[in-house]
Amino acid sequence: MTEQSFVSYRREGAIAFIEIDNPPVNALSAAVRQGLSEAVARLADDPEARIAVLSCAGRTFIAGADISEFGKPPVPPFLPDVVAALEASPKPVVAALHGTVLGGGLEIALGAHYRVAVPGTRMGLPEVSLGLLPGAGGTQRLPRAVGLDAAIDLITSGRQIGAATALELGLIDRLADGTDPRAAGEAEARRLLAEGCGPRRLSETPAPAVDPQAVAEWRTRLSRSARGQVAPLRALDTIATGLGLPFAEGMGLERRAFLDLMQTPERAALIHAFFAERRAAQQDDLAGVAPRTIGRIGVVGGGTMGQGIAAAALTAGLDVTLVERDDTAADKAAGGIRGMLDGAVKRGKLAADASERMLAQAFRAVSSHDPLAEVDLVIEAVFESLDVKQQVFRTLDRVCRPGAVLATNTSYLDVNLIAAATARPRDVIGLHFFSPANVMRLLEIVVADRTAPDVVATAFALARKMGKVGVRSGVCDGFIGNRMMLAYRTAADHMVLDGASPYEVDKAVVALGFPMGPYQVGDLAGLDIGYATRQRKAPTRDARERVPVFADRLVESGRLGRKTGRGYYIYDQDSPQGRPDPEMDDLLAGIRSDLGIAPRRFSAEEIQSRYMAAMVNEGARILDESIAARASDIDVVLLHGYGFPRWKGGPMHWADTQGLDRIAADIARFAAEDPYFWQISPLLARLAAGGGTLADISTGKDRE
Ligand code: 3HC
Ligand code: NAI
Repeated sequence: MTEQSFVSYRREGAIAFIEIDNPPVNALSAAVRQGLSEAVARLADDPEARIAVLSCAGRTFIAGADISEFGKPPVPPFLPDVVAALEASPKPVVAALHGTVLGGGLEIALGAHYRVAVPGTRMGLPEVSLGLLPGAGGTQRLPRAVGLDAAIDLITSGRQIGAATALELGLIDRLADGTDPRAAGEAEARRLLAEGCGPRRLSETPAPAVDPQAVAEWRTRLSRSARGQVAPLRALDTIATGLGLPFAEGMGLERRAFLDLMQTPERAALIHAFFAERRAAQQDDLAGVAPRTIGRIGVVGGGTMGQGIAAAALTAGLDVTLVERDDTAADKAAGGIRGMLDGAVKRGKLAADASERMLAQAFRAVSSHDPLAEVDLVIEAVFESLDVKQQVFRTLDRVCRPGAVLATNTSYLDVNLIAAATARPRDVIGLHFFSPANVMRLLEIVVADRTAPDVVATAFALARKMGKVGVRSGVCDGFIGNRMMLAYRTAADHMVLDGASPYEVDKAVVALGFPMGPYQVGDLAGLDIGYATRQRKAPTRDARERVPVFADRLVESGRLGRKTGRGYYIYDQDSPQGRPDPEMDDLLAGIRSDLGIAPRRFSAEEIQSRYMAAMVNEGARILDESIAARASDIDVVLLHGYGFPRWKGGPMHWADTQGLDRIAADIARFAAEDPYFWQISPLLARLAAGGGTLADISTGKDRE
């Protein structure tokens, strides 16, 4: 083998064992493709070999094409050719599966003649989540294995299925008993040899009939669910049209579609998002720093956030002690957590007995802080008040054992001031979860001036354990996410003051790909939150700052959003998702008239460019101030916490693709009317003038 380090070939009797070993996930790099081609050729030439087992070393069978090669010139041998050569083998090949068999990995398995998996194996074609479609025969072979409907479902959703479902669908031939894939493959090979089975090729299997009505229904469904994305619909068309053609022509169609999609900005954005999420966890200054133990955690405050955090921690296998102000509040919190866990059971996310077991064995809700002496890490989620939080941290300082990590879930407050309430500021950190905390994947890890490195490492370890995407932030008002939100929300408020309706703004923002506009989000979160923040900041407000008087007026008249049935929208039985409030126009007209504003019209395009420019400008400031270490971290925050459309990659990636000079020119134009709000970030101005990108800015050091 020329590439013996990635693909090995070893024969024992009549069985050849082909093993791929390309850590961490056996991605199909050019070297692996080459090694596999050579192994298949050697199998054909090996007179002693009568059958082969294809398996992988390490934690998983092949998890797909090597994504890091995408966007670069393709290097032969190409994957569809490797799969075709494998399938053409005159001797049968058994793919022995374990781990996550994804994308090109599953396509290799479909090119093999038989498939066996060990329990726990997961399979899928996630290409659409990267803006692509399966490009090595998946659109043509999978329907021949599992039927049209299941194939369309798997390919257009990108979802993974477990081995038991794969067996039911006919995707695999056998679910093995043991955990060793090679042994499972060998047992299957012996059985096949004994039965005298030869190669069985999906390309030679008749294609399922394509029902145009069913395809039309899929198209309607996908046009809604895959709003703004190209890949799922292109995949549907490729499956439906390809299956009506001879196999080789279907493959040609798939190849053209794959190469077309490879050129789209959507593909570049989705792959940016994939690597950005993983890069966020990489912290150079933490190399070699061991995290502290986190088996038992405490949660102080059992309201909306405390309950969600506790439920997420229990689900992650942590032991949780929740502290509330009194027994009644503690019982109420416990009830809320039970509801969340039961909900997860109903949605099939947790095993049927899991909720009861976790609550009985790993949870207690109490009204005394004393049991927190036992825990490794405490997350405070009490009211958003510095006084209240400092009081809690003084208590934690007294009660908790030395070395326990003390975290605050504050949304905006200064973590340094909270840490200063203790005699152990090195143990204090911000852990900003998002609501609902048992669902949302983002965790901002707010590192204060004196936070110890091993406390930061512990926070990243906790994020991973809880299945969250941890992103590091420095201390500032609102950290990365809420600070960005305040900026684009303010740009929206200014447009409403100047003549746009909240409904026009929401519509334009939804058209960008966000699930909701800022006023829909406000109604959902509760308008009293923003009101309280404005009240807090009022004493130090700059006289040039424009106040969204209409938002204050709504709160003062008891319209707090969904929870009161009325905010910007009216929520009732007829319109549970909200309908425009006919009184809004009058309210806004009165306010504009009081402020002496002559209202003007805003087109959807203008709303969008102002909204995005405000977001990008604040992001550039956050980067310039080293609150975020890299532009991609900001993207991850917006993608996972604020509904930014993933297929646009995040605001910083989006800005780079739009051209920073264009955005800088927009800001200059807006600044002509409102120079106070529209101050361009010096970094953005510099990059726009010099032709650089936000992606070039990675750490404080790079900027010097
Ligand atoms: N290519 C290149 N690198 C990959 C990769 C891939 N397909 N999949 C994972 N990696 C890298 C990650 O970037 C990460 O690198 P890092 O340690 O330097 O950050 C490392 O492998 C480990 O990955 P994770 O941290 O994600 O490990 P997990 O255990 O949490 O998850 C996984 C493993 C489920 C395999 C997950 O990595 C994953 O979903 N990978 C992507 C799978 C995928 O999309 N495959 C389809 C590719 S497209 C394709 O095959 C086209 C074909 O049709 C032609
Ligand atoms: P909430 O008002 O729903 O819950 C706060 C809970 O803390 C109440 O149940 C209260 O009884 C309890 N509490 C107050 N003082 C206490 C004490 N000394 N000891 C024990 N319990 C005490 O508030 P919510 O929304 O859960 O917010 C909590 C924190 O999380 C705040 O800092 C908030 O800014 C932050 N946050 C809120 C988000 C949201 O969307 N609601 C999102 C992210 C962070």
